Amino acid sequence: MTKPAPKEWILGISAYVPGKAASDDGRPLIKLSANENPLGTSEAAKQAMAAAVDLATYPDPAATKLREAIAAAHGLDPARIVCGTGSDELLHLAASGYAGPGDEVLFPRRSFAVYDIAARRVGASPVIAPDADYATDVDALLAAVTTRTKIVFIANPNNPTGTMAARGEIARLHAGLRPDILLVLDQAYAEYVEPDEDDGGLDLAKTATNVLVTRTFSKIYGLAAERIGWSYASADVVDILHRIRGPFNVTTAGQAAAVAAMGDPDWVAASRAHNSRWRAWLASEIAALSNHGLRAVPSKANFLLILFDGRLTAEAAMKGLMEEGFATRFLGGQGMTNGLRITIGTEEHVRAVAARLRAMAESA
Ligand SMILES: Cc1ncc(COP(=O)(O)O)c(C=O)c1O
Repeated sequence: MTKPAPKEWILGISAYVPGKAASDDGRPLIKLSANENPLGTSEAAKQAMAAAVDLATYPDPAATKLREAIAAAHGLDPARIVCGTGSDELLHLAASGYAGPGDEVLFPRRSFAVYDIAARRVGASPVIAPDADYATDVDALLAAVTTRTKIVFIANPNNPTGTMAARGEIARLHAGLRPDILLVLDQAYAEYVEPDEDDGGLDLAKTATNVLVTRTFSKIYGLAAERIGWSYASADVVDILHRIRGPFNVTTAGQAAAVAAMGDPDWVAASRAHNSRWRAWLASEIAALSNHGLRAVPSKANFLLILFDGRLTAEAAMKGLMEEGFATRFLGGQGMTNGLRITIGTEEHVRAVAARLRAMAESA
């Protein structure tokens, strides 16, 4: 042996491919590839961040003010909130705490790429349940549970499809799982969902002992650069996450910015309204191209998954949009060679994307 040997299961991981920000020849692109907030960040959050100038001391390891702000906004117990370096850290902590070699981690086909990485990183086996026309299929998930299943991950709304399982479906999934299986409800896009369509995940996590809800400040709150996520679960699950999380896992500036962002509900409402309006507009533009084989999967998130089943391929559409100055997410690497995920941008961006897609579809 001439060099350190990694754990054998680590070699089974394909590294996460982040959304592109530049063209293949290095030109900067407008990023519609990572589901960030096209309107940016609330002024209040920017100011709070600028005021958090103490760089020499560690952040509050307990993120006390942030947890209190989250608890007040959602009617939760602050002691049961765990913050993370993005919700990504929390997804990995769930896997580290509850699964290992010989265990199975279950999630739907066409869901968030990190679930596979989180499972393999701890030596567990990823198990993929079929989806139902791009949506989470609760019966298929329940049918795929075995005695070795330790965790079920679902994103709701789901990335990269944008589909959402309704409250009743989430309740049915939870009711069908053994109580020793941890159900991780990844709600990274929950703030884009209209309040009356809430999936009930946080309510479930208030009482169930095997539910972990994760949320993020990276999407509607426009703080992706600061890497701030949070989660809610039973006291027992919280205890496990605290034992293994990074002790200073959210920066001082990030904590201050997130508290201020929560204190600016008008910004969140404006971002949601912008997204709903332009997502519906883009979806109708795509519907008008159905005779060219284009279809948008119904989305509750801040992006649309567009399927290309005519002469214009998803890859060609991605390249054409790149020429137009836009980075989008081609999903060939995730086995969807006909899929292109496009974040809802500003009005100008959405109109330019639709115009280019129409021109390409009509001339293909
Ligand atoms: C479904 C889902 N979960 C989690 C995340 C991770 O977000 P973050 O680590 O920025 O909180 C993302 C980011 O794209 C996502 O789409």
